[in-house]
Amino acid sequence: MKISVIGAGAVGATTADNMARANFVDEIVLLDIKEGVAEGKAQDIQQTAALLGFDTKVKGVTNNYVETAGSTVAVITSGIPRKPGMTREELIGTNAAIVKNVVENLIQHSPDIIILVVSNPMDTMTYLAFKASGLPKNRIIGMGGALDSARFKYQLATALNASAADLHAIVIGGHGDTTMIPLIGKATWNSIPVGNFLSAAEQEDIVKKTMVGGATLTALIGTSAWYAPGAAAAAMVKSIVLNQNKVFTASVYLEGEFGEEDIHIGVPVVINKNGWDKIVPLELTEEEAQLFRESAKAVRAMNAVLQEDNRF
Ligand code: NAI
Ligand code: 2OP
Repeated sequence: MKISVIGAGAVGATTADNMARANFVDEIVLLDIKEGVAEGKAQDIQQTAALLGFDTKVKGVTNNYVETAGSTVAVITSGIPRKPGMTREELIGTNAAIVKNVVENLIQHSPDIIILVVSNPMDTMTYLAFKASGLPKNRIIGMGGALDSARFKYQLATALNASAADLHAIVIGGHGDTTMIPLIGKATWNSIPVGNFLSAAEQEDIVKKTMVGGATLTALIGTSAWYAPGAAAAAMVKSIVLNQNKVFTASVYLEGEFGEEDIHIGVPVVINKNGWDKIVPLELTEEEAQLFRESAKAVRAMNAVLQEDNRF
């Protein structure tokens, strides 16, 4: 089985590295437009095989989509990352042209592929990938909620001095500082509501810190994060390849679910060999539902920028 990763930058290379270490596919193809970069990073990852004990073959190529032929899944990370002070939305024009071109190249060589979109603004790029590819809705998935939920669990684990793996908490809505919705009222520490341990002010602080999680790292590092994004993308690919039926929040095409249609936005889904297999029903409080409506409105406004630009 072959997985392609488009864009051998920080997130793409980290995704490939995580997948190679986890040893669940035969081959990973890493592709970038910058001459030699994917080849070099692929070789660097491959040279860890003897130390880490994996058999995955990692191949790097410069813009050669023939090598991606027959891929089961492709992860799209190509594009420019967010710089300090820049919103994900400002990335839209540049990344839209890149993502559309990448999608067209991928499906030419792998017509049955499942595409995981990472490039920002992710919900809009996922919608664009869906429209540009003509693939069934279940084969187009946006990665954002998996990362935001991991960041939410990090904030909860820090506040509770708990193991992050013991926390169950999800972030729904758009993958944006103001559009994501950390569902604190539904978060549990091994099934016990976190509200039993945290004051209202502490909960509010955790929600706020989660929402600016990406921007906080961008300000510290000077560019956007890659370790957790790479781990999140790799975990989702693993659930597809091993047919694990794991639940992730992911940006998927809604047709009336959660009261929205013709939009990609983060909701909980089961991920397996079919891509996203089904949406997990979730009862929202009126306040959460209102936040979701506002989030969808913001994502739609972003999609409209591309529509005006005739990108669909
Ligand atoms: P990066 O700049 O390190 O890597 C991007 C790579 O894409 C570069 O190596 C570049 O040469 C390559 N590239 C550009 N155009 C290409 C094309 N047409 N074909 C193939 N490769 C091409 O950026 P980084 O940090 O890896 O971020 C990548 C994207 O992922 C950004 O849009 C960033 O905002 C987004 N991101 C999304 C997250 C999410 O949760 N959805 C989390 C983190 C980053
Ligand atoms: C992140 O959340 C910028 O989407 C990127 O780190």
